[in-house]
Amino acid sequence: MNSHSRWGVGLCSVLMLSGAAFAEKNDEAMIDLAWESGCFNCHDLDKPLLGPAWRDVAERYRDDDEALSRLVVTVRDGGSGNWGEERMTPNRRAAEEEIERLVSWLLSLDARED
Ligand code: HEC
Repeated sequence: MNSHSRWGVGLCSVLMLSGAAFAEKNDEAMIDLAWESGCFNCHDLDKPLLGPAWRDVAERYRDDDEALSRLVVTVRDGGSGNWGEERMTPNRRAAEEEIERLVSWLLSLDARED
C-alpha cells in the first residue's frame, strides 16, 4: 500500500485528477459492500490473505470475456484449486446481484504496483 515513491504520488495525482471523483466514490461504496458481504475476512485488494489479492484476480482474468459469469458462480458456491489449496466457502450472505456487482468491480481494478 505504501510503496508510492514521492515522484510517483505526484505523477499519479496529475494523471488521475479527471476521473478520480467518480472512481473514488464508487470504490468506497464497493469496499463497504465487500465488508458487509464478508469478503474481506479472506481478501484484500493489494495482498494475498487466505484468498488471492483482488488486484491479482483482475490481472489474471483481464482478457477473459467469460470471467464475470464464471466467477459469480464460484463466489456464490465456493471453490478451490485456482490459486492454491485454500477453499473459498460458499457466500450465502450476499445476494447474487451483489456478488455480480462486486466481481465486476474487482475485475476492473488495476494491477498491484509492487
Ligand atoms: C472463507 C474465506 C473467503 C471468503 C469469505 C471469500 N473468499 Fe473469495 N476466495 C477465497 C479463497 C481461498 C480463494 C481461492 C480459491 C481457489 O484457489 O480456487 C478465493 C477466490 C476468489 C476469487 C477468484 C476465483 C477464481 O476462480 O479464480 C474471487 C473473484 C473471489 N474469491 C471473490 C470473493 C468475493 C466477491 C467474496 C465476498 C462475497 C469472497 N470472495 C469471499 C476465500 C474467501
